[in-house]
Amino acid sequence: MRLETTLSENQESFVSIASVTQPMTFIARTTDVEPGCALQVNLGGRPPLALVRLDNEFFVINDTCTHGEASLSDGEIVNGDIECPFHSGCFDIRTGAVTAFPCAKALTVYPVKVEDDQVFAALDAGTCADTPV
Ligand code: FES
Repeated sequence: MRLETTLSENQESFVSIASVTQPMTFIARTTDVEPGCALQVNLGGRPPLALVRLDNEFFVINDTCTHGEASLSDGEIVNGDIECPFHSGCFDIRTGAVTAFPCAKALTVYPVKVEDDQVFAALDAGTCADTPV
């Protein structure tokens, strides 16, 4: 199942992640996405994101496949991976790493904070498994 939302105004707050204060952007409410599903989130001014829920853990990743223009929130979620609906390439939802051909470039994943029923992400602190730290 796929849910889609368009958010016109971002709520921002500042929280501490690993002792570093980063701006956190409101992504969606926890109840906006069912367990085992992804929600496409359009914040405006940037490529779409996908909010993915695995049980009660939430992840924010880039929604556009690195192999083509597919929306990953249209894909299946299986064993912690998200499968692209176009050519069945897969990514690890937790790290963004490629787990199945034909994808060759990892996704960017963002630090997430859940407060009450709201999911926030540090959109300035995304990491890509392909980029050396
Ligand atoms: Fe995603 Fe080809 S567009 S695997």
